[in-house]
Amino acid sequence: MARVAKRDFRDITKDVLPTPCMVVDLDLFEKNIKTMADHCKATGINVRPHVKIHKSVDVGKRQIAQGAIGLTCATIAEAELMSGVGIKHVLWTKQPASVNNVTRAVALSKKDPTFMFVVDDPIVVDWVEQAATAKNAKLRIGVSVFAGLARQGIDNGEPAVELAQKVVASKRMQFEGFMAYSGGAAHTKKWELRRKKSSDDLAGVRETVALAKKAGLPVNFVSGGSTGTYNIDHENGLTELEAGSYVFMDTAYFAIGGKDDDATYNDFKGSLTVLTTVDSKRHPNLVTIDYGNKALNRPTDKVKGMPWLQVTSQGAEYGGLKWTEAERDLKLGERVEIYCTTLDMSTNVYDRYYVARGEQIVDVWPIMGRSGSAQR
Ligand SMILES: Cc1ncc(COP(=O)(O)O)c(C=O)c1O
Repeated sequence: MARVAKRDFRDITKDVLPTPCMVVDLDLFEKNIKTMADHCKATGINVRPHVKIHKSVDVGKRQIAQGAIGLTCATIAEAELMSGVGIKHVLWTKQPASVNNVTRAVALSKKDPTFMFVVDDPIVVDWVEQAATAKNAKLRIGVSVFAGLARQGIDNGEPAVELAQKVVASKRMQFEGFMAYSGGAAHTKKWELRRKKSSDDLAGVRETVALAKKAGLPVNFVSGGSTGTYNIDHENGLTELEAGSYVFMDTAYFAIGGKDDDATYNDFKGSLTVLTTVDSKRHPNLVTIDYGNKALNRPTDKVKGMPWLQVTSQGAEYGGLKWTEAERDLKLGERVEIYCTTLDMSTNVYDRYYVARGEQIVDVWPIMGRSGSAQR
């Protein structure tokens, strides 16, 4: 693989790659980005895609090139990574609550005046105000409001507006808008139920926005939403989508059903697979593959083009593929591609995407900013 390091991809096709590895189907990936871009144009909503599902500056840059207004990040490390390569309007959706994170959020705001982060507590506003004063920095701040997930977000209505007013009153901060992520809606099965769940979860947020505007606060954005609700949330008061998974898709998302198909969510295509090799074949209706627990093998994964196969685990470096129909078979050495169950988790244990046009590898994109990595 020394040639890959030199970006010399001649004769490097999928069948010579070391397995297990992640492969991006570039045609499908580009189609997914275009589907989202077309939807945004048609409905007037923006997309600031979430990077935690791919952790790749190469993917982020391609999203920006197709009209994304910035990127959304889960950690300060992701935000530093994306901003560090020159991507503007990065939004960090978690408030800094440690000295480490406060210092880095202020430093990044100083370095990149387009960077924004959120708060859901007045104490954090005081902390960041103090740190910003010490560093002579200006901050762009959003208020994170409750949208159905207990993990974050100040109560809607008066508490949210008071917090926004505290931000507005600060010498160091510019109030930008509200962040309201309805995580429960994202994977709600059946489109109409999802639509209702999202609308219910965002009802309080709509009230908050109305109150804030009435109080004269400038609300530049209301950010939230997901791949599951991308074609719902322009009705629910959001001005921008934080959707992430749509670029690659996973089996948890296939299973939620789409607007026109209750069984399978087809709006976005499965452009990312884990390539694996059949390593042993000693029992009927079962082969062993090199995609095991360390590679995040899950029983809910699905095999591309072979729905008759069931993925099983056989240990740290071993997985299995089982089937029941007698006429089916797999060969020793055969390559099989698997859709993972949860992108966020799976992309965290690989270090690169091999990017393919058909069978030919045309690029390699590093996967960075992973959990546990030094810069975190
Ligand atoms: C804050 C936030 N916004 C948006 C999303 C939506 O991402 P996806 O489209 O991958 O569901 C997530 C996913 O967990 C999230 O944590």
